[in-house]
Amino acid sequence: MPELLPVLSKEEIQEKVARLGQQISADYKDEQLVLIGVLKGAFVFMADLVRSIHLPVEIDFITASSYGHCDHSSGDVQVQDDLRIDIRDKHVLIIEDILDTGLTIQRLIACLSCHQPRSIRVCACIDKTERRQTDLRPDYWCHRAQQGFLVGYGLDYAEQYRQLPAIYHLQFSASEGKK
Ligand code: XMP
Ligand code: MG
Repeated sequence: MPELLPVLSKEEIQEKVARLGQQISADYKDEQLVLIGVLKGAFVFMADLVRSIHLPVEIDFITASSYGHCDHSSGDVQVQDDLRIDIRDKHVLIIEDILDTGLTIQRLIACLSCHQPRSIRVCACIDKTERRQTDLRPDYWCHRAQQGFLVGYGLDYAEQYRQLPAIYHLQFSASEGKK
């Protein structure tokens, strides 16, 4: 079994999410804001964040995937654009679990732009910088990590660990290797 090394505790996440919610509430005061969560990874972060934002907001989800059951992006990002809200002329905040290469967000921004929103910004729970292949950075983030495969708080490895309330670095032993 791979080892779980603590990165962010439940309490640290709570504090960071609350601060992010305050910042977003101040930045979008009196604006029409739509939060779009990226499934599946963002579902836990989105649920906490939305309760820390003290503004009327609309909520929707979009599905993106590029990983399958391994720990590196295939680069071939699949987006299922099944938005149920009209985002035209509204401010959109994309809620992601983690920004890694940046390819998913790049593809999502391109898809969502077609609906002509007033603006698009990105909020990622984790900004993981080492493998970035675009010049995109999140406008809002809770934690910046250089590297490592992270799990918990919605983040998975082969669909496991999403339910953990804290965030961990998944450490494989040399003999286990990774898929
Ligand atoms: P890109 O590379 O497109 O990746 O920025 C974004 C998506 O890849 C997944 N991802 C991870 N998932 N632990 C995870 O559980 C990680 O360390 C990790 N790095 C990238 C994630 O789904 C994200 O939306
Ligand atoms: Mg994701």
